[in-house]
Amino acid sequence: TQNIIYDNHGRPITYLRLAVTDRCNLRCFYCMPEEGVKYLHKSKLLTYEEMIRTVSVLSELGISKVRITGGEPFVRHNMIDFMYQLSEINGIDELNITTNGILTGQYIRQMKEMGVRAVNLSLDTLDKKRFFEITRRDEFDKVYDTLFQLIDAGFEVKVNAVVMDGKNTEDILPLVGLTQNHNVSIRFIEEMPFNGEGNHYPKLAWNLHRILAEIKSQYPDLQKLVDSPNSTSYNYQVPDFQGNIGVIAAFSRTFCGTCNRIRLTATGDLKTCLYDEGVLNIRDLLRDGITNEDLKSTFLQAFKNRPKDGFEAERNRKSVITESMTTIGG
Ligand code: GTP
Ligand code: 5AD
Ligand code: SF4
Repeated sequence: TQNIIYDNHGRPITYLRLAVTDRCNLRCFYCMPEEGVKYLHKSKLLTYEEMIRTVSVLSELGISKVRITGGEPFVRHNMIDFMYQLSEINGIDELNITTNGILTGQYIRQMKEMGVRAVNLSLDTLDKKRFFEITRRDEFDKVYDTLFQLIDAGFEVKVNAVVMDGKNTEDILPLVGLTQNHNVSIRFIEEMPFNGEGNHYPKLAWNLHRILAEIKSQYPDLQKLVDSPNSTSYNYQVPDFQGNIGVIAAFSRTFCGTCNRIRLTATGDLKTCLYDEGVLNIRDLLRDGITNEDLKSTFLQAFKNRPKDGFEAERNRKSVITESMTTIGG
């Protein structure tokens, strides 16, 4: 029995998004520039030991779900061993991962073994050529194959597809088609301006409504499903199809009201909101010899100082965003 912590706006904090690396083996144009982002020196990253200690402390504060993100998590050495260790932490009931699928296939058995239930796979297109145009790497076949391996292995699989005007909107219907005979969830994501290039919020050509209209053009009976309270997506199903469809309106809607998550970047910056720049650095505290008790109260204090609606505040600032998704961890 864990004691759950409620933040200063009454929201329970139960979900940690843990970025284990800033590196990636793809170069998705909406995430980073062609040349990549300037990778951090290894000494700046939290070690696995430091992460395990941090997650253990967080688990005592009521964090029960951890999602590993990146960059691409499997790019970091021995990540799978680290996952085993994470899965053994008391109080962590749910260990999930968001991955691009390039290195993932070889770890399926081990992920099953340690009790990983769900895997989110980033895949924006079912077309080899468009995959190359989007990711700047020729790895479509491997990722596509891994998708079916994951489904066959019995994971709850969610495909994350960022919808980009002029790039992959012709993939929307084929991706929906995949749900006919496969128990998979396809989630279309509104593109967010986190590509590391310093863009203003552009006008979003494909928002929730347009994506839904496109789907309904072929599937007019699309049914709304009941969304779980902290779902990032609005969820739907084509009647009699095995899988389902979601739309993550990351750009046009705020999730702030029910936000149950905090983020830890690979360098140990704690983000209590997607839009804050990091409220404190765990790595520095750990390396300065902080005790677990003090670490706990430091977290507690941060939990009690969360912004109510970081999304709205960000929009009002209309600031230039130079961050890359790969350093934020999504
Ligand atoms: P589940 O745990 O399976 O619901 O996954 P998730 O949607 O929380 O995580 P995932 O890593 O698959 O992220 C999918 C998309 O949702 C990515 O584009 C994320 O950047 C976005 N996302 C996740 N959390 C938030 C959030 O708190 N706010 C916003 N705006 N977007 C988010
Ligand atoms: N806008 C929306 N989603 C993005 N992702 C990466 N960059 C962006 C962006 N600019 C998604 C990836 C991955 C998830 C963690 O974040 O597709 O699935
Ligand atoms: Fe890598 Fe994911 Fe960014 Fe693509 S979106 S470059 S797979 S971190």
